[in-house]
Amino acid sequence: MTGPREVNHVAAGETVPTRMTVNGTPVELSVQARVTLADVLREQLGLTGTHLGCEHGVCGMCTVLIDGSAVRACLLLACQADDAEITTVEGLGSAAELHPLQESFGKHHALQCGFCTPGFLMSSYDLLRHQPSVEAGELPAELSGVICRCTGYRTIVEAVAEVADRYRPGATETDDLSALPPPLNCARRVLIGRSVSQAAGQITGDAGTKADGDARGAASGSRHPDRIILPDTEPTTTVDLNRKVAAPFVDVARILADIPLLATCLPGAELTAELGDDWYQGRARVALGPVKLSFTGVAQVAERGKGRVRLLAQGGDPASGQAQAEISLAIAPEGAGTTLRTNARLYLTGRIASFGRSLSDDVAAHMFDQFATAVGRAASGQRPATRQTSAFHLLAAVLAKRLSNSLSTLFRRNRQP
Ligand code: FES
Ligand code: FES
Repeated sequence: MTGPREVNHVAAGETVPTRMTVNGTPVELSVQARVTLADVLREQLGLTGTHLGCEHGVCGMCTVLIDGSAVRACLLLACQADDAEITTVEGLGSAAELHPLQESFGKHHALQCGFCTPGFLMSSYDLLRHQPSVEAGELPAELSGVICRCTGYRTIVEAVAEVADRYRPGATETDDLSALPPPLNCARRVLIGRSVSQAAGQITGDAGTKADGDARGAASGSRHPDRIILPDTEPTTTVDLNRKVAAPFVDVARILADIPLLATCLPGAELTAELGDDWYQGRARVALGPVKLSFTGVAQVAERGKGRVRLLAQGGDPASGQAQAEISLAIAPEGAGTTLRTNARLYLTGRIASFGRSLSDDVAAHMFDQFATAVGRAASGQRPATRQTSAFHLLAAVLAKRLSNSLSTLFRRNRQP
């Protein structure tokens, strides 16, 4: 950070262009001068790991790193973080690669409700990076800037003390501050806001690409970003499905060319607005047993041709997380019918990502299987929706498939001599 930005005479409601790098992703934002960094991280960038407790600088829940040092995000205006390098708890580690501090918190049961945990993780990271020789006896005072209402602190102190011991100067061959691993989950990726209007182009994962969508969107009446950029990481879930439908090629091609009709074939999906230039706004609902997800977002037709279409979509749900998708559909004549090939790459973050890969794969495969059936029905002039994606139906279908796979494997094993 080059110091507080000079902003003079910003009228109420006027926005200030602000650039920052958040967990390795450069972003450009238009923020109101009165908005705090914590609100921008949570509401505009969808990084809800930064919690808000008191919003007065007392509880420490909102602690993030700015240029490597711990700061209370509720006390800093977002425009003051112009040019800053920000690390939130999402950047510290990922489910696939936890930071040693996160591992230690898990091992020592250093959380109950977990509300204070992001604050403790970021504060203890800052402490161990800047005071690697800190002694266990000093930890209660050093960590007193974060308040926990559940644990009684003992296990939190034990968790931090264990990491401090492991990376204490002299404890390892690397006798310098870099012994404690840096944040492990900082990389260029797409950040999605918590609503369509917030996601609408205020954010870009591309350095130097201006995407001041709210201002332009308001002027033009459109509410979509300049483009949808998919993460350059492995998708959370992929689907590759070949299904034969009874309708002739020409009828299925007509459905592929009609995006609003195509959307009605995807269980739980609904188009709510056409934004022009092959951009669409919509929502998708998925229910799996007691877990109900509801996303709002935008989709773009990235490519279309005879018998094929490629769609990009991104959306989010304040409670559940964020999703991005690339869906390619291609058809080919097969006898009197048509083969529909669906290839989908889904990127999930937040609570939905914790489903686990194999469950996500099963759910996605089942949904696209229903999609293929619905496309066949629509091409034959019937109502596309074969069945509502009820929570029970989806869960039952996924469990039934798993049970059938397990029984087949068991049966095969038993038949082997
Ligand atoms: S929310 Fe920032 S210190 Fe409490
Ligand atoms: S674990 Fe609940 S507030 Fe700390």
